[in-house]
Amino acid sequence: MSERKLFVTTALPYANGHFHIGHIMEYIQADIWVRFQRMQGHAVNFVGADDTHGAPIMIAAEKAGQTPQQFVAGIAAGRQQYLDGFHISFDNWHSTDGPENHELARQIYRDLRDRADGSLIETKTIEQFFDPEKNMFLPDRYIKGECPKCHALDQYGDNCEVCGSVYAPTDLINPFSALSGARPELKHSEHFFFKLSDPRCVEFLQRWTQDGKLQPEVANKIKEWFSVRTNPDGTQSEGLGDWDISRDAPYFGIEIPDAPGKYFYVWLDAPVGYLASLKNLLDKRGESYDAYMADPALEQYHFIGKDIVTFHTLFWPAMLHFSGRKTPDNVFVHGFLTVNNGEKMSKSRGTGLDPLKYLRLGMNAEWLRYYLAAKLSARNEDIDFNAEDFMLRVNSDLIGKYVNIASRAAGFLTKRFDGKLTHDFGAPGAALLADVRGAGDAIAHLYDAREYSKATREIMLLADKVNAYVDQNKPWDLAKNPDNNTALHQVCSVLINCFATLTRYLAPVLPGLASAVQGFVGMDMRRWSVAGDVQAIAPYQHLMQRVAPEQLEALFEPPAQADTAPAATETAAAPGGEALAPTITIDDFSKIDLRIALIVNCEPVEGSTKLLRLTLDVGEGRTRNVFSGIASAYTPEDLVGKHTVMVANLAPRKMKFGISEGMVLAASHGDDKAHPGLYVLEPLPGAQPGMRVR
Ligand code: MSP
Ligand code: ZN
Repeated sequence: MSERKLFVTTALPYANGHFHIGHIMEYIQADIWVRFQRMQGHAVNFVGADDTHGAPIMIAAEKAGQTPQQFVAGIAAGRQQYLDGFHISFDNWHSTDGPENHELARQIYRDLRDRADGSLIETKTIEQFFDPEKNMFLPDRYIKGECPKCHALDQYGDNCEVCGSVYAPTDLINPFSALSGARPELKHSEHFFFKLSDPRCVEFLQRWTQDGKLQPEVANKIKEWFSVRTNPDGTQSEGLGDWDISRDAPYFGIEIPDAPGKYFYVWLDAPVGYLASLKNLLDKRGESYDAYMADPALEQYHFIGKDIVTFHTLFWPAMLHFSGRKTPDNVFVHGFLTVNNGEKMSKSRGTGLDPLKYLRLGMNAEWLRYYLAAKLSARNEDIDFNAEDFMLRVNSDLIGKYVNIASRAAGFLTKRFDGKLTHDFGAPGAALLADVRGAGDAIAHLYDAREYSKATREIMLLADKVNAYVDQNKPWDLAKNPDNNTALHQVCSVLINCFATLTRYLAPVLPGLASAVQGFVGMDMRRWSVAGDVQAIAPYQHLMQRVAPEQLEALFEPPAQADTAPAATETAAAPGGEALAPTITIDDFSKIDLRIALIVNCEPVEGSTKLLRLTLDVGEGRTRNVFSGIASAYTPEDLVGKHTVMVANLAPRKMKFGISEGMVLAASHGDDKAHPGLYVLEPLPGAQPGMRVR
């Protein structure tokens, strides 16, 4: 097959919280597919981004005493550790607040508005609740009041959680603003609408959603939306309704061209973020975004959850098509992950299984990847993470069936045959190996169709066959008698060759393990099929631990009420005016990359009395820009030419004055009012820029 050109995304998570296990599941599902396609030799660009805009993020930032930009930068800084930890191979992670997205969203809007065959944008004046204290229009979920049907108190503006009825916020009895408590006023405002009800859109979308590419259960659900829809007041209307795409200031979002004070509703610019992240990636590589998108061979796929299907199968393809752009080749919808038969996790909180805690406990990310793969199908179905099932599945499949093949054969080969394999497999061995190698196409087809559960089952059935061959040939018995050397060599060589092939089949799911095996068997594990046999092995090293019950207990143990400091610090006076932080391991420490930096330049920052702008040389062949809150203690002349220590792997942080690419270390007292003074660290003479501090 010739090389395919694929552009793949996952949904862009709201930047109002850290990843939860539902997000990680989506990334693992997409990552397995992407890694599989790369193994086939296809060229993939796999991108994500933070979805930064909208009222909830604006309000959360205000509560945190930050600008929305600072707030989302804080969330962005936490992303990488999850992505690295679970081996998610994004080529880029960007933000919907980046310049690319502002530009692309505005251009798409203009293209929809200025169509030669008639605009698809229109304005209508609508009546909406306005909070007179906060001076803003209130989104439905920030209006509360008494249910007009069952009179339950404290219900949201769009539906009652007690009796389930659906209504408009204006139907609430005694409505109040959930932000200020004030009684909201009805006000008129001009809103912009995307005319989805236009016959051009309806005709296009009926075709686009029903031409057989979407999952059948998804296409069937969408069909209903073309015939009836439920209005906010509970009544039903025929066909697609127009889509309200504007919000009034104050709003954290992208301003609508030629409409001061009006912003795009977050869901208008969020999917444009897919293109923005891709453009940002291609720009960094010096490739042309326009040329890339114009290639008719390009295939575009979005992995999403079942709750955001409308946006991805109606609004998004219509926006793209009618602005003269390429539409997605498909949208792959998955169900929700629950934990230990728990209810569906709250979208923002996610409960049950904290992904960072999982990693911190030293649990292997590939256990989770395998377990989820063993449960995922191409259908839009919910799946459950069950702790007991997880342990059984990983231990019996990965360790019991698969890893054991290698550990049973490797010792004999190393001790008796100097690690060298024979190419004479004997008739039964050759037949088994042909079986295992011959299954590659069928398994590839299952991965491509996102039928991971079936793919892993096929692989484990092959592993069963290999283990049956072990039991028939009993290498441990053969090893007892030197007369059987040839047979022993044959059996063990067959086993290692089978193991190498099974490893390739599992590599999309277990990339870390596959690269360890690559060293062990000395063959490329990043290609789906490689001709030739294993020549020799390196001495066997443990490939994977079993899941221990204690780890699962610790994982699901509720967090302690308060972090208790170690006993020693309870009695010791808090040194430097500050109690010691909780104990960390050497691994925690080594995550922080401290480097010697030469301060090549230092300037005051206009508009700030606290900050100095430092230009640092960390031996990278370029300099870094770092803002540091040390202007109270130093003038630029004090610092230029000095060496210091910086945190060199801190995620870049967007500040009001520019991007800060790291942090300089300085000492201060915990109570800096009573004990003022700030002391930048300087190494003893001789330290050179770029040296690591450990
Ligand atoms: N910001 C929007 C998406 C914009 S895409 C242009 C959003 N964000 S989200 O953070 O709420 O969800 C991101 C993705 O995670 C969605 O695909 C959603 O379906 C998925 N999941 C959220 N909870 C989930 C589970 N419990 N299980 C599996 N996926 C889940 O929606
Ligand atoms: Zn009610």
